Amino acid sequence: MKGVILAGGLGTRLFPLTKITNKHLLPVYDRPMIYYPIEALVNAGVTDIMIVTGGKKSGDFLSLLGNGEDFGLKHLNYTYQKGEGGIAEALGLCEHWAQGESVCVILGDNIIEKNIAKGVSDFRAQGKGAKIMLKEVHDPERFGVAELDGDKVVSIVEKPKQPKSNKAVIGIYMYDNRVFDIIKTLKPSDRGELEITDVNNWFLEDGSMTYEVLDGWWTDAGTFDSLIVAAGLCQGGGANNS
Ligand code: DAU
Repeated sequence: MKGVILAGGLGTRLFPLTKITNKHLLPVYDRPMIYYPIEALVNAGVTDIMIVTGGKKSGDFLSLLGNGEDFGLKHLNYTYQKGEGGIAEALGLCEHWAQGESVCVILGDNIIEKNIAKGVSDFRAQGKGAKIMLKEVHDPERFGVAELDGDKVVSIVEKPKQPKSNKAVIGIYMYDNRVFDIIKTLKPSDRGELEITDVNNWFLEDGSMTYEVLDGWWTDAGTFDSLIVAAGLCQGGGANNS
């Protein structure tokens, strides 16, 4: 399985912090934000990694990360997303590189306390389809939200005004290689983006999606409030370590 980290987009919710740099290069406690998703993948045994970047300062990723030596890697791959066409568009840029394999995708502003090794090995055993991860939150209207009937996810709604549950779909997704064909069929949403939630609903309707509830804390770091929450959580207890 290959790993993909999505670190494109313009980070407009963090203006002016992101006026002259990419959001994922901003500090979160003691390291740049992009370190956390790299560590999450490496700690789960996913070491063949593509980073999708964007914006004017995308070259800074190379200066910062090089070939990934700080993470015990021999090589890192990079690609470039023009503009902010959405998470699914950014993932679509990795098709040539995935070469028919499954992918474990992590959003560059998502940070987790524990590791996702079990989820990754469960998905390897699952073989096809998709796996998403859920986490209870107090502000589900900020996220993709899963509606459940008993234990079964019946639909996922992106940023619902009236969420039907408090279970957010976090930014860690595993897909078989059909994901790249599905992305080609998507239409931009009202916010002008190709939505990862549409991809997830495709796999849901296909009947090939599973989910796990993430163990340990999770946060995004894409708003002023969540950025400071993320720093506090990382200070309080080692992200991705256990
Ligand atoms: O954090 C989890 C949430 O992330 C999910 O619950 C939502 O379903 C999902 O849509 C996403 O919501 P956000 O609106 O918070 O995503 P955001 O636009 O902040 O993008 C998250 C990351 O994805 C960002 O740090 C970089 C990457 N990205 C985003 C866009 C729009 C790209 O690489 N390219 C893009 O065009």
